[in-house]
Amino acid sequence: MCGIIAFVGKEDGRKFVLEGLKKLDYRGYDSWGIAGVNNDELWHYKTTGLVKTELIGKESHIIIGHTRWCTHGKVTKENAHPHVSNDEKIAAVHNGIIDNYLELKEMLEKEGYKFYSDTDTEVIPNLISYYTNKNPEKNFIEGFKQTIKQLKGSFAIAALHEKTLAFARVNSPLLIGVAEGEIYIASDAAPFLEKTNKAVFLNEGDWGYYEKGNMYLFDKNEKPIEAKTEEIHWQYNEQGKNGYSHFMLKEIYEQVNTIVNAAAQPNIQNAKDEIKKFSEILLVGSGTSYNACLAGASFLSKKNIKAIPVLASEYQLHVPFFDKEKIMIIVSQSGETADLIEVVNEAKNAGMKIIGIINVPGSTLWRKSDILLGMNAGQEIGVASTKAYTSTLTIFSLLAGEKIDETELSKYTNEKIKEWHEQAKELIQKIKKDLFVIGKEEALSYAMETALKVKEISYIRAEGLAAGELKHGTLALIEEDVPVISIATKETRQDLINNALEIKSRGGFIIGIDSKTHPCYDYFISCKYPILSIIPGQLLAYELAISKGYNPDKPRNLAKSVTVK
Ligand code: F6R
Repeated sequence: MCGIIAFVGKEDGRKFVLEGLKKLDYRGYDSWGIAGVNNDELWHYKTTGLVKTELIGKESHIIIGHTRWCTHGKVTKENAHPHVSNDEKIAAVHNGIIDNYLELKEMLEKEGYKFYSDTDTEVIPNLISYYTNKNPEKNFIEGFKQTIKQLKGSFAIAALHEKTLAFARVNSPLLIGVAEGEIYIASDAAPFLEKTNKAVFLNEGDWGYYEKGNMYLFDKNEKPIEAKTEEIHWQYNEQGKNGYSHFMLKEIYEQVNTIVNAAAQPNIQNAKDEIKKFSEILLVGSGTSYNACLAGASFLSKKNIKAIPVLASEYQLHVPFFDKEKIMIIVSQSGETADLIEVVNEAKNAGMKIIGIINVPGSTLWRKSDILLGMNAGQEIGVASTKAYTSTLTIFSLLAGEKIDETELSKYTNEKIKEWHEQAKELIQKIKKDLFVIGKEEALSYAMETALKVKEISYIRAEGLAAGELKHGTLALIEEDVPVISIATKETRQDLINNALEIKSRGGFIIGIDSKTHPCYDYFISCKYPILSIIPGQLLAYELAISKGYNPDKPRNLAKSVTVK
């Protein structure tokens, strides 16, 4: 989703900011812009489409940039950030959503302010301008402070005025990279890690400003706080696609190693000991991460550990039962998913402990977790999550006390992945319009995840469902040649075959992912480790997208880091 990068330093910051915007583009965006100050004069540039790194604007030592993923208003130049105050003295970029922007806009309109975009963000520079002009010293920081008090919703903001850069964070990530003579304000560390791995992480409600070589930080109660720097141990993907045609394909192939890395993370025993102290575990995530929770719940329940999967966006049903007797395991690749952050805040209010299975170190959810189980998957750039899912499955298996021989698993993946890829290329002929994917117990997770991958990057309608549910409705959609992927595990094989036979007798085309073949399979994909049975589906989704001419790394309408609700 939207990305922020701001720079203050002795050099001209335009190159850094433009290249920084490029490094944020993995988050997904549709338009972009920058603003800087030259001789106390504000200039800005914004446009739709892809970031270009040729220098634009004027030399500036204080500069802000933004990539926008639209929420309020279409993809237009006018709606792109930065937004500038009517007097053209203040520019601001914003991530998140201002819930009360309509009432603020109305108030400002009554004061004579004009608006030129459909965005919620445009109220910000104008409100800062309004409050700046209202105070006797015409002090920008006073104006900024009054503004953030008025804003409701979620926001990470960077605003500039002459030689001052102000910033604030409420429910949307923002951190400060600190290097010799330079600071960088950014929504994640990707744009500045090449310069420094030292960063100050802002907490909810923190705000501050940088002026005349000094940084001032305050908490939400305006109490000055110390800028504590931490080191970020994380490599952003600089080596590019490593010979693969897309990041997604590279990340699918990387699973040969990432499974091993996930198993190597050191906190499993600690987390297992903690889990034993509780009567129930809630496993919470969104999208792919929720699908991983479905498998996790199955692994744990089979070991008599009560585990309930919860969709982050539907957590409200569970809130009345949040209490200290339960523990929560959260799953998030980005560590920034707004829906999940809300659940965690509620759970913490109820005194619950949080175990986080998170990929991005230093992210909001990483920092909110009491016990961390790092996925160790390295940066995932393709919008469709792949390696983070199998890393999470590996961690859940270990939490359930399974003995995983990760070296063997990795060797097997390495042997099979090319074969699965070739099979995916063959199978795309069979999948034209609709696809169904069935599974049971943990393989329900694999079925849902396969369908999600196909939907999001090939735009083919795909439904993942519990095999036993077919006869309760969906079977009505099965006719001659409708493709159905059936994912079997040792325990569920017989049931799955029975369901596959019901489909076959109605003309369906059965693609079996199984440890051994069966006469009911029209096409067989052999996979002896069920937690790997998503990989053929990931490759199928990838090849379907390619065959239709879509870019699998950047599916339409989707973003990598879903920081709004
Ligand atoms: C699908 C996908 C999304 C994410 C979801 C949660 O391929 O990537 O469904 O899984 O938005 O994101 P994280 O895991 O970052 O919390």
